[in-house]
Amino acid sequence: MIPKIQAYCNLIFKVKKKVFNVPFDYFWMHFHQMKSSFVIFAATICFLLGLGFYHYLLGYRAIFNDPSRRPVYFNDGFSVAVPTGNAKSHEWISMREALKGPFAQNDSRLLQYINANNIIRPPSDKPYNLSNPDLDNPSMGQSRIVLHALNGLKNGFFVECGALDGELRSNTLLLEKRFGWKGLLIEGDPKNYDMLVDKHRKAWSTPACLSTLPYPHEVLFEQHYNTGKISKQQVVKDQDAPPGFARVQCYPFYTLISAMNISTVDYFSLDVEGSELDVLNTIPFDSVFIKVISVEYIHDSGGRNAVKQFMTAKGFRVFGEVTDPRNWANDLVLVNERLLI
Ligand SMILES: *[C@@H]1O[C@H](CO)[C@@H](O)[C@H](O)[C@H]1NC(C)=O
Ligand SMILES: *[C@@H]1O[C@H](CO)[C@@H](O)[C@H](O)[C@H]1NC(C)=O
Ligand SMILES: *[C@@H]1O[C@H](CO)[C@@H](O)[C@H](O)[C@H]1NC(C)=O
Repeated sequence: MIPKIQAYCNLIFKVKKKVFNVPFDYFWMHFHQMKSSFVIFAATICFLLGLGFYHYLLGYRAIFNDPSRRPVYFNDGFSVAVPTGNAKSHEWISMREALKGPFAQNDSRLLQYINANNIIRPPSDKPYNLSNPDLDNPSMGQSRIVLHALNGLKNGFFVECGALDGELRSNTLLLEKRFGWKGLLIEGDPKNYDMLVDKHRKAWSTPACLSTLPYPHEVLFEQHYNTGKISKQQVVKDQDAPPGFARVQCYPFYTLISAMNISTVDYFSLDVEGSELDVLNTIPFDSVFIKVISVEYIHDSGGRNAVKQFMTAKGFRVFGEVTDPRNWANDLVLVNERLLI
């Protein structure tokens, strides 16, 4: 075996010598004397290479196998810094990749990001600045049904999306003004959100949309005052939104309320002009106790039945319905069965 290899090497060296005129024969003749130092040299190189590779593998495993250290990267340039000691952890992972592993909507780094970046704004401490200060209940009837379902609950917690300007046909203003509720107003259209801020509502608010996927994502938001919605068009990297659209960051419902340390929502008003079922689909109903929910169904492709079926499967029962011939409201109001037991 060994002589065979030697013969083979000799052949190669001879060819090389011919081509490059390098004294390989000299090297080969003295190989025996040099053998031990050569072996030490080669072993050192191998050891160093191995060490580097092992280090690389450790970092690789740390990122991909340990969900708590997996970097959260979503949308271009929208990242959460990950504290790891290894340079390899700065590699970007596509959302598709990240979703293959466990990726919690309440991932602590995501919640930290939201809390550190003013995504959710505190209630105003100024007096209300409403267009119709005398109109306590601008809703089309939802607020009363909700109060009825909850026996006139005081100091509850609501989430309203889309919140529009915080006043027009608001389903939550009555609860806030007269029943001491706190809550979260979610409005994706930046123009509407600016108007909402001017109203000085006593609720938290966020200029975001609710994710239609179980993770944060950016969308093109079609701006149409009260009929604006998430567009089907994809956001193009580094490109401004076309006229009439805005680039808006969406967060999952559960992510937003988790960032507020809320796990019970007394009333969730959902009216997002067609994405209702997609939004509902992201909600882990086992982890958040929603007591009453109103869902506009008229713009969803499956209509009333699809919403009813979905919510029934999640343990809700139809409690009331609000319809309006002008289509200003076509909402099912559903109550969690856990309330009725
Ligand atoms: C009250 O709202 C109007 C718009 O309706 C706005 O122009 C005005 O600046 C607001 N006032 C305050 C004190 O925010
Ligand atoms: C929620 O809890 C976290 C951690 O305890 C805290 O930093 C954050 O301010 C809380 N958020 C709210 C809205 O209370
Ligand atoms: C995320 O939600 C799960 C399930 O409700 C819970 O067990 C876990 O403690 C939550 N994690 C954080 C960081 O809130």
